[in-house]
Amino acid sequence: MWLAALAGGAALPSVTSAKARPDITLRFSHVVAEETPKGLAASRFKVLVEQRSGGRIGVQVFPNAQLYGDHDEMQALQLGAVDLVAPSLSKFGRIGLPEFELFDLPFLFDDLSAVRRITLGPLGQKLLQGLPRQGLVGLGFFDNGFKQMSANRPLLEPRDFVNLRMRVQASRVIAAQMRALGARPVTLAFSETRQALATGVVDGTENPVSNFWTQHMHEVQSDLSLTEHGYLGYAVVTNQRFWQHLKTSDRALINQALQESLAFANQIADTQNDQALQALRQAGTTRIHTLTNGQRQRLRQAVQPVQQQLASRIGPSWMQDLKLALGHG
Ligand code: SIN
Repeated sequence: MWLAALAGGAALPSVTSAKARPDITLRFSHVVAEETPKGLAASRFKVLVEQRSGGRIGVQVFPNAQLYGDHDEMQALQLGAVDLVAPSLSKFGRIGLPEFELFDLPFLFDDLSAVRRITLGPLGQKLLQGLPRQGLVGLGFFDNGFKQMSANRPLLEPRDFVNLRMRVQASRVIAAQMRALGARPVTLAFSETRQALATGVVDGTENPVSNFWTQHMHEVQSDLSLTEHGYLGYAVVTNQRFWQHLKTSDRALINQALQESLAFANQIADTQNDQALQALRQAGTTRIHTLTNGQRQRLRQAVQPVQQQLASRIGPSWMQDLKLALGHG
């Protein structure tokens, strides 16, 4: 009930003449829980599309990697088995778009307004324009938030990471970040992460608190260090053939509902992460560590070489545009 209210269902007029069976049903697959910024954006999108189309266009949301996980969701989209996915920006490198990994550069963004300079600016548009190369269309970006580090010990100084096996997403930039800290990166699907932490396959991981909490990682990690060392965001993508075959008016309706849902996600993402942190404090399972300025500075210094090392993967011209957009000279 609270989920429907948060997703916006309660705030919108009910559909009085909804069709019993939709003419079109969009399948939206994602890998996280419903009570996360992405889960709530997907639920809101469903409500908006179904209400505005009078039930003519339906949306089925499949959360928690129920249908497809990190390994196969993009392929499922390319094959038309689903119509919308919203992978993290870290997961586009392996489908031949390594420039998306610029978002993974550690300590790149001071705050979310710096992120917006990319996602809402020409660089964001240029990134989305690369998707048709893969038979996809990029419809927009949205936030989860800043990532924190977890393990069964505090991670406050570079030496705390040495030899830890840290689960990472399939991003070479994130892998390089972990190596720069002395850890060993292990690439795993999101849906496999909690189990891998529980069984000791990996020692720790990084994620915004909303993902940490809703995957119950707090039950298997004794320490969460509030490092805020990197950003986690998403791009919503659809299949190019599917998108082009929609009627112009349906495409406009779906796109409008989506843009509103992404703006909504950006509004609530911070609160979702704050609420998850509060819930985590109350659960009392996990020690929460706030870093001193000096500790954060030493982590930042340790990962600084990653920008240089990974510039050739991201691409020199993307790096140049990035610096310009962020005013980094
Ligand atoms: C997500 O938020 O979609 C998953 C992030 C991850 O794989 O760590």
